[in-house]
Amino acid sequence: MKQKLIVGNWKMNGSLATNQALVQGVLAGLPGLNVHAAICAPAAYFASLQILLQGQTGLVCGAQDVSMHETGAYTGEISASMLLEFGVRYVIVGHSERRLYHGELDAQVAIKAQRALSAGITPIVCVGETLAERQAGCTEEVVKRQLAAVIHTNGHCISEIVVAYEPVWAIGTGLTATPEQAQQVHHVLRQQLKAASPRADRIALLYGGSMNAVNALDLLRQPDIDGGLIGGAALKVPDFLAIMATASQCAIA
Ligand code: PGA
Repeated sequence: MKQKLIVGNWKMNGSLATNQALVQGVLAGLPGLNVHAAICAPAAYFASLQILLQGQTGLVCGAQDVSMHETGAYTGEISASMLLEFGVRYVIVGHSERRLYHGELDAQVAIKAQRALSAGITPIVCVGETLAERQAGCTEEVVKRQLAAVIHTNGHCISEIVVAYEPVWAIGTGLTATPEQAQQVHHVLRQQLKAASPRADRIALLYGGSMNAVNALDLLRQPDIDGGLIGGAALKVPDFLAIMATASQCAIA
């Protein structure tokens, strides 16, 4: 049974009180669902989430970024080994908001993935084109360049990563790639990973960008879409649970 992976990206949202209600609501809906899920929360909440998620295997904690460095004079940064101490199992690297607002480059994203892997945390490597790049016909070139940097730096460990294809124009906009558009890019990424690793079939390829309870089924049943990276809809218990229920239905026997 191939389980789908559904990851919530809370971005800079939440509070101690609302997080607790959200996590408890999601946990209450989990039994019976055949899905693996994670929530990538702001770092300030890891300690409280560690308590809320203690003993849970179906829902684990993730981070939204990690430092390229292991330790030392890097004010404001958080290392992979620190994340691990709080039970963090996944970390998003190279989200388009980090690339855009913090100027993160492909080579830096690749090193962040490497730091995560060496700490035993699964990096969720985000790739995706802007609207201008899509309109210029450069989608494949852009996502392949972004992924190539991570493959180059991480070599034989590449089968341990998760990849999220997130078209920048679809993030938080309500515009979603059509299932065919998403599948086409996922297929390209899968071929690229296969050329790099004989174990590429086990790499989860997530789609992200305005995935919601309504469009999830058509996206998640595409052959190369192994799950979703969910922003806005992960902040509402019924919406997140509905996506997880859909993912559970799509688990391949
Ligand atoms: P969205 O965000 O679902 O709100 O579009 C997805 C993401 O940025 O990971």
